[in-house]
Amino acid sequence: MIEPISGFSKLSKEEKIDWVTTHYTQNKEQAKKIISTYWNQNNSIQQLHDEFIENTLTNLYIPLGVAPNFLINGKLHVIPMAIEESSVIAAASKAAKFWLKRGGFKTEVLGTEKVGQVHFLFKGDFQKLNSFFTYLKPKLIADSASLTTNMEKRGGGITDIILRDKSTQLSNYFQLHATFETKDAMGANFINSCLEQFATTLKAEVATYTDFSDEEKNIEVIMSILSNFVPNCTVRAEVSCPVEELKLTSDLSPQQTADKIIQAINIAQVEPYRAVTHNKGIMNGIDAVVLATGNDFRAIEAGVHAFACKNGQYGSLSHAEIDKGIFKFWIELPLALGTVGGLTNLHPLVKLNLEILQNPTAEELMQIIAVAGLAQNFAAISSLVTIGIQKGHMKMHLLNILNQLGASEIEKNKLVSHFKTNAITHHKVKLQLKKLRK
Ligand code: MEV
Repeated sequence: MIEPISGFSKLSKEEKIDWVTTHYTQNKEQAKKIISTYWNQNNSIQQLHDEFIENTLTNLYIPLGVAPNFLINGKLHVIPMAIEESSVIAAASKAAKFWLKRGGFKTEVLGTEKVGQVHFLFKGDFQKLNSFFTYLKPKLIADSASLTTNMEKRGGGITDIILRDKSTQLSNYFQLHATFETKDAMGANFINSCLEQFATTLKAEVATYTDFSDEEKNIEVIMSILSNFVPNCTVRAEVSCPVEELKLTSDLSPQQTADKIIQAINIAQVEPYRAVTHNKGIMNGIDAVVLATGNDFRAIEAGVHAFACKNGQYGSLSHAEIDKGIFKFWIELPLALGTVGGLTNLHPLVKLNLEILQNPTAEELMQIIAVAGLAQNFAAISSLVTIGIQKGHMKMHLLNILNQLGASEIEKNKLVSHFKTNAITHHKVKLQLKKLRK
């Protein structure tokens, strides 16, 4: 029976590793070896990683690759992607190459509004609360001046604060709903600091507001926090070409291909089981770039999926149509990103990835990332409506299978060549390796 441990975070790294491997692994020495294998040989880099979080034992590496040939608004980009799934970068590169010859991607930022809320309970007359809010609002802004000065110098700040009555959904529940412009910062710390200041001002002002009864003065702030639902911080990316240029396979005419792609998207609009997988494919591209650029992929995921339900049912983030003989394929989604602050200034690889992207502003990064999502979706749908996903996926996955089976470099080369013309399954690879070894 393992006893709970107190003061774990105060132990040295070696003591933590020792405790975990002693109590929770079968082979302590082997576990320690794996942990140390993944340490960075450069002490200062390792220390940086150790200090990102609490209780760091080691690093979990995922591959960082690039997808070249992305023509976005007439400019060529190579996009860094951090992803473990075998086929994602190959698919992105293929889609980029396809659209390179057809005018590339066109993008547009539709909005950059960030949101935060102070959630509170109020028991009393709403009209009085509304009058109090009119009195309070300039004080909320004035009391946050020390927090907003720098952001205002960069063209950002608090854009508005409104009072929202949510009491029909939850008794006595109201909000200060604030909107922000945070320019090139993702802005979480800025927004949360402003919100906590709003809560302090709210509590101080309510205490001395003479129009309120004692019960009305008893406003209870429940919490103050930014929202990752940012439906007005959105970007659009689009590709288009004459239908006759949509030739993907010899089996389907361009018109049949366009019709099938549109049907695939229509299905994802009305069928949540499909929509989730459809959007997951989009997030393969989005998350990979979000991660490579040091942004918060959990925030992006949460915001994107909420946006996909904005019409009351979970649906596709991408859309397609034929308009006067032109096939159009586009995506619109919320992306609250930063290119300054947070990991972007700290992690040398993140800095390098931003440099590879030509040090984009947050708005430029929104556009690049939307393109990565659209490209990924185009690649997935193109395969799904033509040859199916498995052939390409298994081709990319072959090396993983061979590595799992412990194949040598010579064996890998021979089997990669064999499977160029043979269908790949785990079982078939195993059999072929066995045959080769005989
Ligand atoms: C796999 O990671 C992603 C796909 O399932 C996406 C899709 O079905 O559209 C291929």
